[in-house]
Amino acid sequence: MNRLLSARSLIRKGLLLQTQTRNFTISSSSAITRPLVSETILLENSRYSFLSSSSSRYFSSVADQKKESKEENKSTHEVLNDAKEGKSVVSSYWGVSRPSLTKEDGTEWPWNCFMPWETYRADLSIDLNKHHVPKTFLDKFAYRTVKLLRIPTDIFFQRRYGCRAMMLETVAAVPGMVGGMLLHLRSLRRFQQSGGWIKALLEEAENERMHLMTMVELVKPNWYERALVLTVQGVFFNAFFVLYIISPKLAHRIVGYLEEEAVHSYTEYLKDIETGAIENVPAPAIAIDYWRLPKDATLKDVVMVIRADEAHHRDVNHFASDIHFQGKELREAPAPLGYH
Ligand SMILES: [Fe+2]
Ligand SMILES: [Fe+2]
Repeated sequence: MNRLLSARSLIRKGLLLQTQTRNFTISSSSAITRPLVSETILLENSRYSFLSSSSSRYFSSVADQKKESKEENKSTHEVLNDAKEGKSVVSSYWGVSRPSLTKEDGTEWPWNCFMPWETYRADLSIDLNKHHVPKTFLDKFAYRTVKLLRIPTDIFFQRRYGCRAMMLETVAAVPGMVGGMLLHLRSLRRFQQSGGWIKALLEEAENERMHLMTMVELVKPNWYERALVLTVQGVFFNAFFVLYIISPKLAHRIVGYLEEEAVHSYTEYLKDIETGAIENVPAPAIAIDYWRLPKDATLKDVVMVIRADEAHHRDVNHFASDIHFQGKELREAPAPLGYH
């Protein structure tokens, strides 16, 4: 009976591994740029291979299984001691080690901050000049507020676009997180689905944070810039939090206009790279893997994909504001998941 149970368990785990393997492979098809909600991720021609260390256990030999069970019987004290001495890691006790991943070229996946299935090819065909013409009082207020905020930014950074981008990305990653968090709490309070908007806004926050992780590889902030980030984050997070509670339509409209400004700033950045005022250095490794850029990609390629992302965020936020302007809730319209 025990044998039967363990055989059934083995089969179940085998099936689970197959499912995991399928789910964690990403198509190398160049057709996938930014999948729409209705699109299905292609599973053939996998770009990355995946092997879960815990799942591989079920396919090892009996001798290996015995060896592993001996290791599993190690006391917590022994494992922690081993970890302290650098012999093993604590995860071997908790069983939470990261799956082993390899890139298309056979090298190991080097990042823990994002996984291969979170990477994508930016859609560079997006209209960069799209502008929401302010019509209502709230629109005009949002537009003027953003234009006003631009003045001190221009004075402070002038044409130091690398530094400017790095600093502004610390702010840009806040609205999506605040909006996503508030929608999450509302979903819990009202026992309602969000229509995918929680995920969409959190995706935006994560994408903006990856812009920052990229820019920080290129520009190292000094102490007073770090102090400025702390202050601005303290003020902006709280201000945006209150604003989103009072008027999400104004909050999204302001973000929409901020993103329009971001597109403009990155265009200016590109101009300086093209004229040689800013050196077109090689792209950081994190950017090459995150946007699936070629190995010889440069700063210019990175700025182009970031600018495309900003244009998508512009559309998402103006769209969200328009939903509110129609007197509806976000959950009533399909969320633009995966829209980078
Ligand atoms: Fe950004
Ligand atoms: Fe942005």
